[in-house]
Amino acid sequence: MNKVELRGITVHYGEHAVLEDFSLTVKAGRIIGIVGPSGCGKTTIVRSICGFINPEKGEVLIDGKLVYSKTGRVNVPPELRRIGVVFQDYAVWPHLSTYDNVSYPLKKRKTPKTQIPELVEEVLEQVNMIGYEKYLPSQLSGGQQQRVAIARALTTSSDFLIMDEPITNLDAKLREQMLVEIRMLQEKLGTTIIYITHDQEAAMQLCDEIVILNDNGSIAQIGTDEEIIKKPANRFVFQFIGVSNFLPTCIKGGKCYLSLDEEILLDDNIPQDYPIGKTRALLGVRPMDIVFDDNSPIKAKIVQATFLGNIYTYFISLGKEEYRVQRIATGETDDDKYREDLTVGVKFVNVKYFDMEESV
Ligand SMILES: Nc1ncnc2c1ncn2[C@@H]1O[C@H](COP(=O)(O)OP(=O)(O)O)[C@@H](O)[C@H]1O
Ligand SMILES: [Mg+2]
Repeated sequence: MNKVELRGITVHYGEHAVLEDFSLTVKAGRIIGIVGPSGCGKTTIVRSICGFINPEKGEVLIDGKLVYSKTGRVNVPPELRRIGVVFQDYAVWPHLSTYDNVSYPLKKRKTPKTQIPELVEEVLEQVNMIGYEKYLPSQLSGGQQQRVAIARALTTSSDFLIMDEPITNLDAKLREQMLVEIRMLQEKLGTTIIYITHDQEAAMQLCDEIVILNDNGSIAQIGTDEEIIKKPANRFVFQFIGVSNFLPTCIKGGKCYLSLDEEILLDDNIPQDYPIGKTRALLGVRPMDIVFDDNSPIKAKIVQATFLGNIYTYFISLGKEEYRVQRIATGETDDDKYREDLTVGVKFVNVKYFDMEESV
């Protein structure tokens, strides 16, 4: 079943188009990540789903029912859409205790007074916060405050949560822990979660499926983490999900060359994923996929070498540019052999070819 369907949503702020004919379907019972650079329109998508803004065009369906339609003049108010929302910036009210924070939306919805304590205890239990009812946010850790925010959202719905950068302000270790907790909660309650973030690593760790947005709010790719890593739809996605190097290539006489100061043969054939009909393209390669190989005719100079943890990071110069290389220490004696100023042979593995004209 589909939890949410956005059909052709358009939102402008003044002259500025944030979403243009935006469509997305979110299946029920899963965690979907919506990932994109800051300012690309993620929160605008949240507001459109929740009913905090009225898009100029398009339709929103929740559980198959129309809750917004510009042309059909349908606009179900936010409180009746039954979506639990966790925001980044005003996660919990600082002057209210845990109990009051969580019970606030229940009171606002005019839930019968006698039912409130039980409902509050139920959601506090779901996020392991029983015993903290009287604490103020300032007496709780950042992670505990987030759990209060999640509990409060659960009072509106344990069925559908939207989290808009919920843990951006937590430190790395707590963030990791919260991601595990969100996953466990989802498994326990079967909640549909839309998880919004600019942090692609968090999304890959947490989500069943990830929607990557371009700068302009359009969808660059939808897929599992594996699909996105192995088959990035374009250069933008490749660049967005990890450290990347790009080298110019060309096709001549049915062969593929690196086109640096001189042309160096890369492939006797046109590579399978070379942009169709193009004679020039960018080769994209991750630092771990540039491999030192003395037998390779492609020679580069090591300009910088550093060692941290068990990973070597190098900058090599090839033609006029520098590229980043990483190697995991093998523990063998040749670990130290690649030093600054050394000229080494390099080869490229797991490469992707991207259209040069594609805007990023
Ligand atoms: N109320 C508003 N008035 C004018 N511009 C806005 C408003 N809200 C957001 N914007 C602009 O719209 C764009 C998208 O914003 P937003 O959806 O919040 O992005 P994100 O959540 O991906 O960072 C940004 O350029 C932002 O500055
Ligand atoms: Mg935002």
